[in-house]
Amino acid sequence: MRKTCAQGSAGQPATVENCDRPNSGLRTGLKPKMLKTNVHIQNTSNTRLNSLVDEMVALCQPDQVHWCDGSKEEYDLLCEEMVHAGTFIKLNEKKRPGSYLCRSHPGDVARVEHRTFICSKSKEDAGPTNNWSDPVEMKETLQQIFKGCMRGRTMYIVPFSMGPLGSDIAHIGVQITDSAYAAVNMRIMTRMGSQVLDILGDSSDFVPCIHSVGAPLEPGQKDVAWPCNPDKKYIVQFPEDREIWSYGSGYGGNALLGKKCFALRIASVMAREEGWLAEHMLLLGLESPQGEKTYIGAAFPSACGKTNLAMIIPPEGFEGWKAWTVGDDIAWIKPTADGQLRAINPEFGYFGVAPGTSDKTNPNAMKLVKSNTIFTNVALTDDGDIWWEGMTDEAPAHLIDWQGNEWTPDCNRPAAHPNARFTAPASSCPTLDPAWDDPKGVPISAFIFGGRMSHTFPLVFQSYSWNHGVYLAATMGSEATAAAENQAAVRRDPMAMLPFCGYNMADYWGHWLSIENKVKEPPLIFRVNWFRKDKNGKFIWPGFGQNIRPLAWIIERIRGRANAIESPFGYMPKYSDLNWSGLGFHAEEFSELMKVDRESALREIDDQKNLFDGFGSRVPLALLDQQKNVRDRVEKASGIWDPEA
Ligand code: OXD
Ligand code: MN
Repeated sequence: MRKTCAQGSAGQPATVENCDRPNSGLRTGLKPKMLKTNVHIQNTSNTRLNSLVDEMVALCQPDQVHWCDGSKEEYDLLCEEMVHAGTFIKLNEKKRPGSYLCRSHPGDVARVEHRTFICSKSKEDAGPTNNWSDPVEMKETLQQIFKGCMRGRTMYIVPFSMGPLGSDIAHIGVQITDSAYAAVNMRIMTRMGSQVLDILGDSSDFVPCIHSVGAPLEPGQKDVAWPCNPDKKYIVQFPEDREIWSYGSGYGGNALLGKKCFALRIASVMAREEGWLAEHMLLLGLESPQGEKTYIGAAFPSACGKTNLAMIIPPEGFEGWKAWTVGDDIAWIKPTADGQLRAINPEFGYFGVAPGTSDKTNPNAMKLVKSNTIFTNVALTDDGDIWWEGMTDEAPAHLIDWQGNEWTPDCNRPAAHPNARFTAPASSCPTLDPAWDDPKGVPISAFIFGGRMSHTFPLVFQSYSWNHGVYLAATMGSEATAAAENQAAVRRDPMAMLPFCGYNMADYWGHWLSIENKVKEPPLIFRVNWFRKDKNGKFIWPGFGQNIRPLAWIIERIRGRANAIESPFGYMPKYSDLNWSGLGFHAEEFSELMKVDRESALREIDDQKNLFDGFGSRVPLALLDQQKNVRDRVEKASGIWDPEA
């Protein structure tokens, strides 16, 4: 049977052969999806994109092709279709306007690092911390598994810009996906739709992002609410070709390819080649009561409170201070011709961890998700709203849990999945920085790195130099869980980029070292640790809004107005250097929080050495020098080094 396209040449039946728009997706001859109205057919004259779409249609064999225009109407229709299909539940319009709940397959709830591949030509270029596979072999494998993978489904063509449209710092991608969930989430998380094709024009400079849930439908087969492939998942980055292929998962980090796959793994490779930085960082602007504004980039491993810090609310005693959110997860940072470092948030929304978010921990995030939000794997209340652990002190008496089962507080199961997420537009953030969408980005004055460490590391300290700062970032570790003191396994997570660096981590450290010479005044570099515990296993530092106190010290250091003393780890504040107004935190508690225990510091340095040993001779000599320096300083220190002593 001949397939027809929507519009043939005058007077003839429309066929693939005579379709008068040969460069459009319609060239494939597939009936474009109508989405109830007929206006959603996007055409482009971009040769590379059209051949890519043709190639993917031939390979994946979707039933229909839909070019996303990014309109609100299209978004609403796709959401409506997902409600019909049982993928989405429309939440109570009065309580949570414009919002939906989605429940994933129970085996498709998180990123799959063991199925994530960096397919550079040489294995060494991927480095010991990435899974590597030969790119030619991997492409063959992918050609096999993508064959017919979209049968029975619609292929969505999703053009998107990471970063403000047309910004020098931004880059374009096109996701080709058979997931309507991915398409609507991409509309929240990126600048998505026709305007992107206009900006792209005829340029071939875009990153192809091929995605399939890997669950073709045979004729007559009924679809499931969350199609995925529980047995076969591939999240593949081809750094040299700047291409992404993802198969088998619908979960955010695996399926919204603009985020971790493009904005970090592929972008980190682009950044190295082009002399900039693509980082797993929040971007925050802090404004003093005098109106002085300072922007910082801060990197923390996943689930260490980046979204909370990005939306921090100054506490009592910090009246007149304002905190402005630029981004909560990813920063692209480029040196300018006049030697500044300017950063953008390449995303357009937030894909935050829901459990633990509350009016106490992050009131701004609670406001952010009040409307127009997609919730994934949270619990449903009896009145059509959502709930998760930590949202309120007391759990509701009855819920439907994230898997769709009846739930009561005594049933011993979490109501929301611990990695349940909200996808919400940045424009709903109450503290959104007025400059967040500025194509020029914001100027960065400091970088902050912090893991979750119940021991060894003080609340805050500053590196002695740029190279020392790179060392502090490169050796960062974090406890995977809040297990007993000194027993939790520490996972080294350099720059919080362990799962996201698209090339050899040792070369990435070298790249960071080289940035110093590209800017006139390199940002200062700090380490923080909100998570130190006392001998009873209790957090010493109250965290959340109180984190502004060490941040204010950091700002004063940037401005050259705050004191610090030299410690084995770096420059540290004394108790009297921080503003304690509004918080009863005593000098003895501060000592407990800041002291450096020689033995535990030496154990830490040994472990840092193990990290470097894994990279052999590729570790930059400047970092080995830094390691020697810190060991010398710690060895010379007394048993317990105390800033107040
Ligand atoms: C995220 C992550 O989803 O870091 O942001 O895992
Ligand atoms: Mn993240």
